[in-house]
Amino acid sequence: MTAGSLSPLAARTEDLRKVYGHGEAAVVALAGVTLGFERGKFTAVMGASGSGKSTLMHCVAGLDNPTGGAVFIGDTEIGRLKDKQLTLLRRERIGFVFQSFNLIPTLTADENILLPLSIAGRKPDPEWYDLIIDTVGLRDRLTHKPSELSGGQQQRVACARALMSKPDIVFADEPTGNLDSRSGAEVLAFLRRSVDDFGQTIVMVTHDPVGAAYTDRVVFLADGEVVDELRSPSREDVLRAMGRLEPAGGRTARPATPPGGRVLLPGDVAPAHSEAALLPGSSELAVPPSEGTPQEARRVVED
Ligand SMILES: Nc1ncnc2c1ncn2[C@@H]1O[C@H](COP(=O)(O)OP(=O)(O)O)[C@@H](O)[C@H]1O
Ligand SMILES: [Mg+2]
Repeated sequence: MTAGSLSPLAARTEDLRKVYGHGEAAVVALAGVTLGFERGKFTAVMGASGSGKSTLMHCVAGLDNPTGGAVFIGDTEIGRLKDKQLTLLRRERIGFVFQSFNLIPTLTADENILLPLSIAGRKPDPEWYDLIIDTVGLRDRLTHKPSELSGGQQQRVACARALMSKPDIVFADEPTGNLDSRSGAEVLAFLRRSVDDFGQTIVMVTHDPVGAAYTDRVVFLADGEVVDELRSPSREDVLRAMGRLEPAGGRTARPATPPGGRVLLPGDVAPAHSEAALLPGSSELAVPPSEGTPQEARRVVED
């Protein structure tokens, strides 16, 4: 899985910058991020909506072009690659899992899982294929189309697809954002197992302190900068760190501590008479009980 690289980091950025638009309309999405992702580790990226998490993932995965700075996959600086080389690198060394699954509706689960290899004209390593299919628990669903699968099953198909080429690094942008908590836990358990059992490197964006607690390290972004990080985080560690984060650059007038000191978590049911306490910088996490599941509420905020 190391592709002959000597670097202990599967990927890293140097002063990574991304500006969308020009002049008065310019939005600084990444304001100079220098960050490494260790091999064989599970890293979470957290931060308020708009803090630059997706932009960071897309730039490191070679899906978007940064405005400045550099991205390395292993020892390869991807900004120096020609288009064809970048396409190859993305295909062979990077996996991506999207919040919305992104499966091809007309293909079966099996065909979806094998699609990137098929495009590359490659066949899967049969032992690896069996291991992934069994680990992700999809053996009896392989001939089903995405519409015949639950959300959790579809996302497990997407995870299997991302891992099938034995990529150096897998990026997952809110992989549990559209799932109920039980399906989300299955996806998180699979990602964790692929790190522990296969040495996979994974970087995952999440808003969920429970999801973050599956990882080895949490990196916090605010206004396009890294502002904090935690190692071996517990859910409580993550909550405390979220509480320490100032409201994004003072631009958003959010309370630094929740009214009444109570933080509302996804899955929590707020007492009927309580104010819906906001996590600083993470209004997605505050869910009034009348507005459906946390996942649905979060989707509304995110989309
Ligand atoms: N394609 C785009 N065009 C213009 N602005 C964008 C685009 N994508 C993201 N942005 C802006 O860049 C900032 C960071 O966005 P994003 O990386 O999506 O944040 P996050 O994933 O943390 O919610 C936000 O202010 C967002 O509005
Ligand atoms: Mg995002």
